Amino acid sequence: MHLDLPDLAHAAERLQHPQPTARKSARRPARESAETLALLSQRRSTKVAQLRAPAPSGADLEALIALAARAPDHGKLGPWRFVVIEGEGRARAGAALEAAAAEERRESAAMLFARAPLCVMVVSSPKPSAKVPEWEQILSAGAVCYGLLIGAHAMGYAGCWLTEWPAFDARARAALGLADDERIAGFVYLGSAAEPPLERERAEAAQRITRF
Ligand SMILES: Cc1cc2nc3c(=O)[nH]c(=O)nc-3n(C[C@H](O)[C@H](O)[C@H](O)COP(=O)(O)O)c2cc1C
Repeated sequence: MHLDLPDLAHAAERLQHPQPTARKSARRPARESAETLALLSQRRSTKVAQLRAPAPSGADLEALIALAARAPDHGKLGPWRFVVIEGEGRARAGAALEAAAAEERRESAAMLFARAPLCVMVVSSPKPSAKVPEWEQILSAGAVCYGLLIGAHAMGYAGCWLTEWPAFDARARAALGLADDERIAGFVYLGSAAEPPLERERAEAAQRITRF
């Protein structure tokens, strides 16, 4: 897709040439967006097996990641990182996982990333901080995952946010290049939906509201 919004056009560039200090002079007034509300109210995950090419790539993907990196982040620590698994990288990541997997999982491990054209592994990478609790840093990584999904949908793609067994397996995490203090916040698989997903039942929000 072609990105012609000024924010998006600069997003990839900012990602490659990060500015140490944000321009504090750039005030952003709140703006209504019916399209955003519609997108949020209709977003659905697409099963990984239903994800086909095209997926975001090149400048689109860099812009998408830059958008996701705007997730709320107390202290500007950037307590997360992105590992892009696409093209032949999918087989390389699968091979790394296969080597680390228990016998009964090896075959599926090798093919894990082949299921979709793109997977962005979001790694929660908490930074030492006297001010920002680790819990907040972990939550920020979750917000990044959701930002990837929302941004991808707004670009016309589909996706899903999975963890699956590698997120809970220390050997798998190491094989994918994570340090001991890092965790996988999500494998965000992206592509185009083979067919639009059906709506699903939702947890009833109203029943989960209490008031002081
Ligand atoms: C952190 C996180 C991890 C998830 N991991 C898995 C998973 O490993 N396998 C799975 O089937 N769904 C997983 N899901 C659920 C899907 O991402 C998705 O939310 C669910 O299928 C419902 O679709 P929806 O996004 O349209 O509500 C996970 C969700 C979250 C938030």
